[in-house]
Amino acid sequence: MLIVYASTHGHTGRIAEHLGTTLEQEGLAVRVAAVGAVSEQDVADADGVIAAASVHLGHHQRKMVRWLERHAEALAGRPTALVSVSLTAADDTDEARATTQALIDDVLADAHWTPTSTVAVAGALQYQAYNLPTRLLMKLISRSHGGPTDTSQDAELTDWAGVERFARAFAAELRQPGSSTALRGTTTTGHGD
Ligand SMILES: Cc1cc2nc3c(=O)[nH]c(=O)nc-3n(C[C@H](O)[C@H](O)[C@H](O)COP(=O)(O)O)c2cc1C
Repeated sequence: MLIVYASTHGHTGRIAEHLGTTLEQEGLAVRVAAVGAVSEQDVADADGVIAAASVHLGHHQRKMVRWLERHAEALAGRPTALVSVSLTAADDTDEARATTQALIDDVLADAHWTPTSTVAVAGALQYQAYNLPTRLLMKLISRSHGGPTDTSQDAELTDWAGVERFARAFAAELRQPGSSTALRGTTTTGHGD
């Protein structure tokens, strides 16, 4: 089982590690790796693959799109998932859900890839990691969404229990393909659901 991730400020890496820990608790052997550190052998060995990437300025990381495009054929025929990390996934409105879905549709179209399932996960405001202009930009964006604006501390919006539920559903699918109805379509874990 392979979890490959792209992460600009590290939060998607933490989500990938959390998915990995949960899948290991389910009895699976898991390799978690940044997209640049995955070998062809890792892909060949994996009975299932989860790709996690985050949204920055309206797009998932290009290096993940290119990786998915390169491996789309190899990924076909086994359980696969896209984990999309963003701030819009934290918003409980129809408009935000449509935006989140459009971001996912875009990355899958760009990569010419159809995973078994997709999940939108609310990310984090890592104010401490940003330079000044980015900190101010993210504060403004967060304010416009009614989100956290105290830049003296990071704010985590991720629903970790939702991440774990998704990992367990994926493990069920790996053990018994077709067993998990939770894996059909896009789920969102950003609303404490
Ligand atoms: C410069 C910047 C731009 C961002 N643009 C978006 C965006 O367009 N849409 C969105 O939903 N989230 C956006 N985010 C939020 C990130 O997706 C979120 O912070 C995520 O947790 C980042 O994960 P990472 O640390 O793995 O890169 C942006 C964050 C930053 C710092």
